[in-house]
Amino acid sequence: MKTYRIATVPGDGIGKEVVPAGRRVLEVLAGSESSFTFEFENFDWGGDYFRQHGEMMPESGLNALRGKDAILFGSAGDPHIPDHITLWGLRLKICQGLDQYANVRPTRILPGIDGPLKRCKDKDLNWVIVRENTEGEYSGVGGRVHQGHPIEVATDLSLMTRVGVERIQRFAFRLAQSRPRKLLTVITKSNAQRHAMVMWDEIASQISKEFPDVTWDRELVDAATARMVNRPASLDTIVATNLHADILSDLAAALAGSLGIAPTANINPERLYPSMFEPIHGSAFDIMGKGLANPVGTFWSVVMLLEHLGETDAAERVMKAVEHVTANPSLHTRDLGGMATTAQVTEAVCARIAATADGYI
Ligand code: IPM
Ligand code: MG
Repeated sequence: MKTYRIATVPGDGIGKEVVPAGRRVLEVLAGSESSFTFEFENFDWGGDYFRQHGEMMPESGLNALRGKDAILFGSAGDPHIPDHITLWGLRLKICQGLDQYANVRPTRILPGIDGPLKRCKDKDLNWVIVRENTEGEYSGVGGRVHQGHPIEVATDLSLMTRVGVERIQRFAFRLAQSRPRKLLTVITKSNAQRHAMVMWDEIASQISKEFPDVTWDRELVDAATARMVNRPASLDTIVATNLHADILSDLAAALAGSLGIAPTANINPERLYPSMFEPIHGSAFDIMGKGLANPVGTFWSVVMLLEHLGETDAAERVMKAVEHVTANPSLHTRDLGGMATTAQVTEAVCARIAATADGYI
C-alpha cells in the first residue's frame, strides 16, 4: 500500500475551517481505498505564527515541505497585518521557493449551481486558466524611495524571462492538447506593453509549432473579459501572465456561480518539488469562525491533488461526490444562496464517498 505524505497549511481566516474539511475528505477516501493511504503533517503558519515569531513561516519551512508528496493550503491574509507581508511571507514564498510555476484554475458550472450568465448553457463554460506563477507582475522586483516626500518614487517591475515564458506556454499547450477540444487562447496586452508582451506573443507562436494539433488564438486581456461573458463557449484552455490570470480567474469563478467553489493547483511540472493545492477564495474574515465557509473549493482542490498523485479513479470519485452534493440546493452554503454549514456540506460529501466505495454504486 502506498503512503502519500501530505502537508496541510490552513493559514488564516476560513483556511482554518476548509483545510480540516479537505483533510477529512481525504481520510474518508483512504478508509475505503486499499491501494493508498495518507500521512498528514500540519503546519500552523500564518498570521498567528507571525504575531508570535515575527515571520509568517520559519526559515526552515521550505525544507520541511520538500519531502512531501503534496501540500493542501488554505489561505494567507490577516486584518492586522499588511496583505503584502502575509502574501510574500507565506503563499508566494512557497510558490516561488518550490518553483510551482504553473498555476492551474479550472472553471465549470457544477450541477445545481445557478451561474449569472443567463444566455449561456452550463456546458458552454468549461475552462482551464493557466496562470504564470513565478514572475511577471509578481516578480517582487521594485522599490520605494524618499517615502513621504513629494519626490517619492515607487516601482513594481513586471519581469518576464524567456525561460519562464517558454515553460508556462509549453505547459499550457500540452494541457490544451490533453483536453477534448484542443483549443488554447493566449492572453496578451502587446498593443500597449511593447516589450515583454511582444516577446510573450512571439514565444507563443514559436511553441505552437510543437503542437500542430492544438488550435490557438490570441486575445487582448481587456477583450477577453467581454468574450468570457458574451462567448464563453469560444474558450477552453487559457494561458495568461500572473496578474492577467489573477483577474480573469476571479471573473471566471464568479461566472461559474461563486468564488467559494473555485479550486487551484500550484504545480511544479517537473516534480522536483511538491505541488500545492488550495481554494482561490482567500481568508474571508467577514465569515471566519462561523462555520459558513463553502468547502467545495477545497474539495475540488483535493480532486486536483489526487489527479496530480496519479490517483485518477479516486479523484473522479471525490468529484462525483462533490457534484452529487452541489446538485442538492439544501446543501448550498450562503455564498450560493443557501443555508448549509461547512460541516453539513463536508459530511454530505464524505457520506457520498463512503457510499460509492467499490461495488456499492
Ligand atoms: C489568488 C489571490 C492572490 C493573488 C492574493 C491573495 C494575493 O487573489 O490566488 O488569486 O493575487 O495571487
Ligand atoms: Mg486572485
